[in-house]
Amino acid sequence: MIRIGIILGSTRPQRNGEQVATWVLDNAKQRSDAAFELVDLLDFPLPHLDEPIPPSMGQYQNQHTKKWAEKIASFDGYVIVTPEYNHSTSGVLKNALDYLFAEWNNKAVGFVSYGSVGGARAVEHLRLIAGELKMADVRQQVTLALNSEFENYSVFKPGAYQLPQLATLLDEVVAWSTALATLRPPATPAP
Ligand SMILES: Cc1cc2nc3c(=O)[nH]c(=O)nc-3n(C[C@H](O)[C@H](O)[C@H](O)COP(=O)(O)O)c2cc1C
Repeated sequence: MIRIGIILGSTRPQRNGEQVATWVLDNAKQRSDAAFELVDLLDFPLPHLDEPIPPSMGQYQNQHTKKWAEKIASFDGYVIVTPEYNHSTSGVLKNALDYLFAEWNNKAVGFVSYGSVGGARAVEHLRLIAGELKMADVRQQVTLALNSEFENYSVFKPGAYQLPQLATLLDEVVAWSTALATLRPPATPAP
């Protein structure tokens, strides 16, 4: 079965991202066409990129890199949940993306974002990064505005109208992850 990782792109104390990623996971788990797993960057503490050889060469030396690579290699596609920081994504997510290369290649990715304008500007940057990592970014996006989808900017209460958007995003990620399977080695669950 196709395996999709839901990457939580904020590690801040009291982050809003955890509520958003949990919402994505809970809804995704109601589907039967793929297996979904939360990937919390807090569980993969990575220093600022400290590999001496560029990740595109695939010669990882550090244990933290190998552990991260093993987890990311275990998926066929991803949903990235991103905050917007200074009109871009978070530094911790950019760093985590920079760490690897082959593990991202030929896989689909969809974006769920949040911020004052729904995190739209963060996702525009992420789409450029996805291209360089040879990821297929799907069109559908879920944008969650802080002033309408969160109470007091901190309690996540998404409108029901967000659910069809999320369903379409997941449809697209699963479809493209499946279609791209012939281009990559099979994904196996990480221990
Ligand atoms: C360093 C920083 C920069 C931010 N810059 C923006 C911004 O440019 N645009 C925006 O819409 N929100 C911005 N925000 C607000 C965040 O989108 C909001 O706090 C969100 O909840 C952050 O995600 P997190 O709580 O999961 O870390 C910023 C927040 C932080 C901490």
